[in-house]
Amino acid sequence: MKILVVNGPNLNILGIREPDMYGKVTLQDIYTLMEKKAEEYNFEIEFFQSNHEGAIVDKIQESYKKVDYIIINPGAFTHYSIAIRDALLSVGIKTIEVHLSNIHSREEFRKKSVISDIALGQIVGFGYHGYLLAIEFIQRKEEEE
Ligand code: DQA
Repeated sequence: MKILVVNGPNLNILGIREPDMYGKVTLQDIYTLMEKKAEEYNFEIEFFQSNHEGAIVDKIQESYKKVDYIIINPGAFTHYSIAIRDALLSVGIKTIEVHLSNIHSREEFRKKSVISDIALGQIVGFGYHGYLLAIEFIQRKEEEE
């Protein structure tokens, strides 16, 4: 079971960036926790972060037939990137959308996600725990099948 974790723009500066909104943990801290959890379940896990839409599209395309699940926090691209949406649809990989903050309780423009209707589901508002919950969900789903 292989999982690809994709983080979009400005998530590389977690810890520095608006800590009251996004928490004090760094992306590296999150990777370490996710790696530990993936190991527990015997999942292979790969991490990718980019501030560039095209680089994210490239990475998703490269994952075709190589990855079983994508956990993605597209950052601001969530709200308007049809290119990322189309890439996810093209590869047909089961996707879980994660947001650190509760995007539904913030500005109007954050409430819309162009990814959510093609994802298995969306985890929002639980900070970095959301990424770990996504792995836990995958484990439960796979156990069921
Ligand atoms: C975010 C929410 C987005 O609206 C924002 O642009 C981000 C982070 C989150 O994790 O809460 O970059 O995806």
